[in-house]
Amino acid sequence: MAEQKIQFKVLRYKQGQAAPAFQTFDLMVDEDTTVLVALQAIRRDQDPTLVLRHSCHHASCGTCGMKINGQENLSCVVKVLDLDTPTVIVEPLDNLPLISDLVVDMSGFYELYTTPELDYIRQSEFMSETDIPEGIAFWQRYENCLECGCCVSACPVAGSDPAYQGPAALAAAWRVVAEPRNSDPAVVLDWVDNEHGCWRCHVAFECSEVCPSDVDPAGAIMSLRGELTKRKFRRLFGRK
Ligand code: SF4
Ligand code: SF4
Ligand code: FES
Repeated sequence: MAEQKIQFKVLRYKQGQAAPAFQTFDLMVDEDTTVLVALQAIRRDQDPTLVLRHSCHHASCGTCGMKINGQENLSCVVKVLDLDTPTVIVEPLDNLPLISDLVVDMSGFYELYTTPELDYIRQSEFMSETDIPEGIAFWQRYENCLECGCCVSACPVAGSDPAYQGPAALAAAWRVVAEPRNSDPAVVLDWVDNEHGCWRCHVAFECSEVCPSDVDPAGAIMSLRGELTKRKFRRLFGRK
């Protein structure tokens, strides 16, 4: 397994520091080394003060999201040599408050899911086979969100409107509308039908491009708009 020396430029920040600044580390990597493993090696062997977040190492916990060469991704699945650049630039996610180095504060992101209108945590019992709607694979996409925050980081609207509900929560809202179980889709539609909800999106699909779990938040937002438009027409013409 041939090793190669790669330079890592890591954005560093500690509370009280005037502004984040890049620090450079050299590291030998092989074709199996992921960005997360490289950062752990840097922390172990070069700078124990490097702060990063991870858990599973296999793209399921969603905690290791960061920007790698300018693109949001899970650092545990990106192989360093696949990037094919002599220098790898590593930064924390955008549009979320920076705590330290590569760790951002996700509490605002999670708080959106606890809003009473968004029935995000729902009954988990399985439906009988005959109750499963046609196209179940389509519904399953919306169960895939890892809550990694990559979509929010990539979203230009989330960067300019702190009240924007954001791609992940809107994708979760569409999941409830599309497959309500015991929830009331009308309540969720009311929640997203405002200037900080699904109408605020400018439809550039950056969120869907970076999502590591194929949730397609932008597609979900378009579906919410379609559903709201249909509802408006139904109301205009006196149908429920
Ligand atoms: S499509 Fe909408 S939600 Fe997605 S990144 Fe663009 S503005 Fe943000
Ligand atoms: S929608 Fe995709 S990018 Fe956004 S939080 Fe969920 S898994 Fe991450
Ligand atoms: S460490 Fe869990 S998704 Fe990367």
